[in-house]
Amino acid sequence: MPFLELAAGLLLFFASPTSSCTEQESSSLINFLDGLMPDGNGDLNDSWVNGTNCCKWEGILCSSDGTVTDVLLAARGLKGGISPSLVNLTGLLHLNLSHNSLEGSLPIELVFSRSIIGLDVSFNRLKGHLQEMQSSNPSLPLQVLNISSNSFTGQFPLTTWKVTKNLVALNASNNSFTGQIPSSIYINAPSFAMLDLSYNQFSGNISLGLGSCSMLTVLKVGHNNLVGALPDGLINATSLEHISLANNGLQGVLGGSHIFKLSSLTVLDLGSAGLSGTIPASVGQLRRLKKLYLDHNNMSGELPSALGNCSNLGYITLRNNSFTRDLSKVNFTMLDLRTADFSLNNFTGTIPESIYSCTNLVVLRLAFNKFHGQFSPSIGNLRSLSFSITGNSFTNITNTLQMLKRCKDLTSLMMGSNFKGETIPHDETFDSFGNLQVLTIDDCPLTGQIPLWISKLAKLEMLDLSLNQLTGQIPSWIDELGFLFFLDISSNKLTGDIPAKLLSMPMLLSERNAAKLDTRFLELPVFWTPSRQYRTVGAFPSKLCLDNNNFTGVIPPEIGQLQMLDILNLSSNSLTGEIPQEICNLTNLQILDLSNNQLTGEIAPASLVTRQKLHFKLLCQNFVCMRVLILVLG
Ligand SMILES: *[C@@H]1O[C@H](CO)[C@@H](O)[C@H](O)[C@H]1NC(C)=O
Ligand SMILES: *[C@@H]1O[C@H](CO)[C@@H](O)[C@H](O)[C@H]1NC(C)=O
Ligand SMILES: *[C@@H]1O[C@H](CO)[C@@H](O)[C@H](O)[C@H]1NC(C)=O
Ligand SMILES: *[C@@H]1O[C@H](CO)[C@@H](O)[C@H](O)[C@H]1NC(C)=O
Ligand SMILES: *[C@@H]1O[C@H](CO)[C@@H](O)[C@H](O)[C@H]1NC(C)=O
Ligand SMILES: *[C@@H]1O[C@H](CO)[C@@H](O)[C@H](O)[C@H]1NC(C)=O
Ligand SMILES: *[C@@H]1O[C@H](CO)[C@@H](O)[C@H](O)[C@H]1NC(C)=O
Ligand SMILES: *[C@@H]1O[C@H](CO)[C@@H](O)[C@H](O)[C@H]1NC(C)=O
Ligand SMILES: *[C@@H]1O[C@H](CO)[C@@H](O)[C@H](O)[C@H]1NC(C)=O
Ligand SMILES: *[C@@H]1O[C@H](CO)[C@@H](O)[C@H](O)[C@H]1NC(C)=O
Ligand SMILES: *[C@@H]1O[C@H](CO)[C@@H](O)[C@H](O)[C@H]1NC(C)=O
Ligand SMILES: *[C@@H]1O[C@H](CO)[C@@H](O)[C@H](O)[C@H]1NC(C)=O
Repeated sequence: MPFLELAAGLLLFFASPTSSCTEQESSSLINFLDGLMPDGNGDLNDSWVNGTNCCKWEGILCSSDGTVTDVLLAARGLKGGISPSLVNLTGLLHLNLSHNSLEGSLPIELVFSRSIIGLDVSFNRLKGHLQEMQSSNPSLPLQVLNISSNSFTGQFPLTTWKVTKNLVALNASNNSFTGQIPSSIYINAPSFAMLDLSYNQFSGNISLGLGSCSMLTVLKVGHNNLVGALPDGLINATSLEHISLANNGLQGVLGGSHIFKLSSLTVLDLGSAGLSGTIPASVGQLRRLKKLYLDHNNMSGELPSALGNCSNLGYITLRNNSFTRDLSKVNFTMLDLRTADFSLNNFTGTIPESIYSCTNLVVLRLAFNKFHGQFSPSIGNLRSLSFSITGNSFTNITNTLQMLKRCKDLTSLMMGSNFKGETIPHDETFDSFGNLQVLTIDDCPLTGQIPLWISKLAKLEMLDLSLNQLTGQIPSWIDELGFLFFLDISSNKLTGDIPAKLLSMPMLLSERNAAKLDTRFLELPVFWTPSRQYRTVGAFPSKLCLDNNNFTGVIPPEIGQLQMLDILNLSSNSLTGEIPQEICNLTNLQILDLSNNQLTGEIAPASLVTRQKLHFKLLCQNFVCMRVLILVLG
């Protein structure tokens, strides 16, 4: 029956339109599968069955003639080793094994494959050296190599890159490679565009490794141990858009450097790079610059007016240098500017009006400089702001708050160590700071009482009024601040009892309340101690510091309700009576200081020690816990 035979043939033809892969290809893949752990095979064995067409297996793509071209197995929970058998897939173009838990070494044959153009094994646990290989092949097809975020060690291959003439992108960041950065990478690959070797232990002179490369757009070698002057070789890398040399030990200066001739630059990251000298006027040639990091260097001098030509800046940090003079030379009319950090320098003068025209500014840090003067009404243009002026010589706190009232979405205001000897204002209209989460006015020292308008800051999470001359009692409205978990009113002249209201502050009572905190990440690590940076307000310890005042009376037993408290300091007051046993209920407590009072009694140490972290015991022998947590808020 020829017709039926024909029909059956057609049926077969339509049922399996794909050509089948070869037996050798199936075997190579099965060998790869066999190299995985039984509990880490990503259930590939369900479809990878020897004897069936491997073009239909999970994660495999074939060309129309049935050659395996892609093995795409990212993020499948694979565990075990990578079998070199994949090298026998002679038509393989893309191998993607990223985001798994693969261990062992990377079979170097894969890097030297005669077919693979894209190899991505990033985010695994691969280790060992990347072997050097002198290939006789004049040119390998490899274009993209991503071995980042593994545990590779040892000298980075130097000669290998002589044969990767088609290389476009190489990402080996976040490993532990040592040795020099090989210049052969750029010299030999005319299309080379992206190099990321950051977060390794590369050493040697930075210039040696950086050749010229007209197609290079991204160069990231930050967080290594590189030394030397800024590389001249970059002069021909005219396509560069992103350079990061951050966190190295360069001894360079920017003046005369070719970096400012790279007119396509959008990101220049030279933070913590060991730079000195001034910012040269040539910075103004970088018209496309969006992000400029020069923080944590030894730079000095005045900001050049040409900086104002970088009108596309969105992010600038000069934090922790020795820049001087005022900012007024620079026209800061930069409509995209969102973050500006000038803190920890020697800037003087007043704040230039042009900064107030940056209506998209959300973070402005001026802390620890020598700025002075008052603020102008146009600061109200900065509607949505986290603002720090701590440690300057600004005057007139009343005026400052009146001007800032116009910033409708002021989220944090840190202004301690200013307004020397002024009186804290009691203007009722200051209750309009409805979005304020952080308010610090410490160390001024201000006189007066804790003002009522603070009770209207419904979103307040942190309040620091320490080191002032405030008098009066702890206000009875304190528990109305439903989000407050950090209260420091230490070193003032406050008097009276510890009120019951203080011991029913909602945020300190239970975990459930603590969960309500805003956990949004801040663009800058805004708050810091000498040893830590905090990116969210909620990461701070819960704290109640009443020390160094003249509080009297007993410690109420309700203190035991403050389950969320990490730090409690009642030292150096005139408290009397028995230490309430309920203090032992504070199971989160890490620092307790009751010293310098007239308290009697003792805490049953057994109940504490079993529940508390070990160092609690050391800190609190005899209730004198002398460790002080120094917080610098700025
Ligand atoms: C796959 O099956 C073929 C026979 O169908 C056999 O020759 C080959 O060894 C098998 N491969 C593996 C890896 O088991
Ligand atoms: C695949 O491997 C898993 C884990 O070892 C196992 O539970 C499952 O039965 C295997 N499937 C097949 C089809 O062999
Ligand atoms: C590649 O295939 C050949 C022939 O089947 C075999 O001898 C060789 O061991 C394979 N190579 C690898 C790395 O598995
Ligand atoms: C590998 O796969 C991951 C996840 O799908 C993807 O993000 C990545 O871009 C791929 N790598 C390459 C080189 O295409
Ligand atoms: C690895 O790097 C390549 C080249 O930059 C990139 O295309 C790929 O997306 C990266 N892989 C992952 C998982 O990010
Ligand atoms: C290189 O890979 C890391 C992750 O391992 C990634 O964070 C980084 O952005 C990549 N570099 C580039 C330039 O894409
Ligand atoms: C830059 O290119 C010019 C012209 O091609 C060449 O003469 C010069 O040597 C190159 N400079 C560097 C540092 O590679
Ligand atoms: C600021 O200037 C003073 C002297 O004018 C100097 O002692 C101090 O070290 C400088 N501070 C910084 C951060 O440069
Ligand atoms: C600052 O720049 C803006 C926009 O380019 C311009 O309108 C303004 O006049 C400049 N201000 C000064 C003082 O030069
Ligand atoms: C402080 O500011 C207020 C309000 O703007 C103003 O009335 C007062 O005169 C200022 N005081 C001083 C000493 O400048
Ligand atoms: C603290 O207050 C008590 C009672 O009001 C008073 O006797 C004492 O002198 C005050 N101590 C200080 C240091 O002000
Ligand atoms: C402290 O805990 C004990 C038992 O764990 C409980 O009986 C007591 O009510 C608690 N006291 C306070 C003030 O929470």
